[in-house]
Amino acid sequence: MKEKLEQIREAAKAQLADANADLEAIRIRFLGKKGELTGVLRGMGQLSAEERPKIGQLANEVREYIENAIAERAEADKRAALDRKLRDERIDVTMPGKAPEIGKRHPLAQVQKEMEDIFIGMGFGIVEGPEVEYDYYNFQALNIPENHPARDTQDTFYITDNILLRSQTSPVQVRTMEKQKPPIRIISPGRVYRSDAVDASHSPLFHQLEGLVVDKGITMGDLKGTLETFAKTMFGESTQIRFRPHHFPFTEPSAEVDVSCFVCGGKGCRLCKGEGWIEILGAGMVHPNVLRGCDIDPEVYSGFAFGMGIERVTMIKYGIDDMRYLYENDVRFLNQF
Ligand code: DAH
Repeated sequence: MKEKLEQIREAAKAQLADANADLEAIRIRFLGKKGELTGVLRGMGQLSAEERPKIGQLANEVREYIENAIAERAEADKRAALDRKLRDERIDVTMPGKAPEIGKRHPLAQVQKEMEDIFIGMGFGIVEGPEVEYDYYNFQALNIPENHPARDTQDTFYITDNILLRSQTSPVQVRTMEKQKPPIRIISPGRVYRSDAVDASHSPLFHQLEGLVVDKGITMGDLKGTLETFAKTMFGESTQIRFRPHHFPFTEPSAEVDVSCFVCGGKGCRLCKGEGWIEILGAGMVHPNVLRGCDIDPEVYSGFAFGMGIERVTMIKYGIDDMRYLYENDVRFLNQF
């Protein structure tokens, strides 16, 4: 029996040395109710009174040994698992973090806001007008009768014979003067539409910012001062402006206005195509017919108006040479602003 107990101890020891040992199975095999050690103890009745205490003591030792060995092995397994976990889940604190992506305003929206702020600073208010407009406001009230050639250059999208997508923000002038009597000092930014094919400088949808000032004694000098202040604030203090005679049906006299090229300062470069000047807007003194149509007496009041392309201002400000970049929503482009 003594040998049997020693065998059990050795067998348990060997099993516990196995790297894949199943501790619960070992416990059951040796110490369980039907286990090997229990079997030996059960046979003790056959022993002599002399042998019984000795074997009993040895059996206890063996049981204790196996119990301890299982507990130690369990503890070792637990430690090993923790070590493995610590190793596998280690965080490299020197790795660069993931920066959260923060959105920002589109460059056109940024520039529009900047333009608005400049005019707000000069006392202008902001008004909005509809993008779906009557022919009357888009053309007729602006002194552009049916069959006037100016309609060809602003061919747009028609909803019906007399409802269209506005081709310019100028109709807001008329809507404003119908509602509000002088003094008037407003700007109106927004989308406009023309039936143009897309290329580097054209898009069927683009943005304009209209301006209108009507009061007693408004002169072309006021127009010039206003636009000069705008240009210097927008493009830099050294910017100059130049008026070129032009024709718009709703202003008289009319002008196209250029700014000195801020890249070359007027010497001529790629941006200004060697001109030294870049056209940014159309402007003029509000035509008496337009004032009269809104019940404002041109003998008492005068006004100036201007309209500029927001894409154009954005492209000039940032040296963007193709308008399509502004509409493609490529974040590699947009992130630069
Ligand atoms: N509406 C004109 C256009 O789209 C621009 C313009 C010219 C606006 C002269 C004005 C103006 O207010 O006075 O080409």
